Amino acid sequence: ADEPLVLGIETSCDETGVGVVQGHTLLADALASSVEQHARFGGVVPEVASRAHLEAIVPTMDRALAEAGVTLADVDAIAVTSGPGLAGALLVGVAAAKGYAVAAEKPVYGVNHLAAHVAVDTLEHGPLPEPAIALLVSGGHSSLLLVDDLAHGVTPLGATIDDAAGEAFDKVARLLGLPFPGGPYIDREARAGDRAAIAFPRGLTAAKDQAAHRYDFSFSGLKTAVARWVESRQRAGEVVPVADVAASFQEAVCDVLVGKALDACRSSGIQTLVIGGGVAANSRLRAMAEQRAATYDVQVRTPRPTLCTDNGAMVAALGSHLVAAGVAPSSLDLPADSAMPL
Ligand code: KG4
Ligand code: ZN
Repeated sequence: ADEPLVLGIETSCDETGVGVVQGHTLLADALASSVEQHARFGGVVPEVASRAHLEAIVPTMDRALAEAGVTLADVDAIAVTSGPGLAGALLVGVAAAKGYAVAAEKPVYGVNHLAAHVAVDTLEHGPLPEPAIALLVSGGHSSLLLVDDLAHGVTPLGATIDDAAGEAFDKVARLLGLPFPGGPYIDREARAGDRAAIAFPRGLTAAKDQAAHRYDFSFSGLKTAVARWVESRQRAGEVVPVADVAASFQEAVCDVLVGKALDACRSSGIQTLVIGGGVAANSRLRAMAEQRAATYDVQVRTPRPTLCTDNGAMVAALGSHLVAAGVAPSSLDLPADSAMPL
C-alpha cells in the first residue's frame, strides 16, 4: 500500500504554511508570509499576523493541494501546529484544520511547533536515528533537546534564559541599520568581515555556570556588549565596521550554540545532532557545526535553509511520523496552546 498522505498547517508566527508529504517525501510546501508587514515595527505584531493568516489560509491550502496534485479527499490525515506560538495566530490554523477535517472526514493531529522543526529533517535525510540531540534556534526559541522518541515528545535539556538566538540576530541587525528580520543580513555582511576582530562575550560558558546552566543559553549580555561597542565608536566619530561587528557577533553566537550542542552529544554518547529553526539557516553555524562535530564523530543533520524557517512541510513531516507510529489523532476540541510544553 502507498504510504500515508499527510497535510500540515503552520500559523504559529508570521508564516502561513501548508505542506503535503507522503511518508518522508515532500510533495508540496506552500507559503505566504506577512514578514514585510511587520518590518517597519522591527518585530512581529500579533494582530497583524492573525489577520494575515485569515486572509492567506484558504489560498495557501489550495496552492499546496494543487502543487501536490491531490485533493483533500486523497489526504489521510491533517496535522496542525497547536502550540507554542502567538495565540491568535495559532487559532487561525487550528480552526482551519478542524474545518477541513470535519468537512472531509479526516483525522486531525495537533502538533508541537518545536518537535516539527526537528521532524522536518526527515524530509531531507530520511528517518532520524534515536536517540538524537536537537538544537532548535529560531526567532522565538533557543533550546537543546533530547530526542528519545519523536512520536511521543522530546525532552528539554536547556533553553535560553533571556533572548532567543534569532531575536539576538534581529536586534543586533537593527543596531547596525540592517533590515528586519536581520539574521540573513548579518549572515551576508559577516562574509566580508573578520570574525576575530572583536572579542564579544560567550554567555553562560563560565565554569561557574556549568552546574545550573550547562545547557542553557543567554544572549542579552552579548546584545548589550555589541550595542556598547557600536555606541563607543559612534561617539568617537568613527565609522562602524559593520562587516566586522556582524562577523564577530555571529561567531560568538555560533560558538556557544555549537559548543553546548556538542557537549550534550559528548556527555550522552549520542552521535546524531539535528539543527533546526530559522537560525539553522545561518551559513557560519552550519559550517562550524560540521567542522567541530567531525572531531567527536558526531553526524550533523541540518535541513536545507528553506525547511529551517517556519513552513507547513515541517508540520506535515511530524504528522506523517505520528501516523506511521500509530499515534491516536487529537480530538476535535483540540485547543490552541500558546505556551504548549514539549
Ligand atoms: O523559525 P523561524 O522562521 O521563526 C520562528 O519560529 O521564530 O525563525 C526566524 C528567525 C529570525 O530571527 C531570523 O532573523 C532568523 O531566524 N534567521 C537567521 C538566518 N535566517 C533566518 N539567523 C541567522 N542567520 C540566518 N541566515
Ligand atoms: Zn519556528
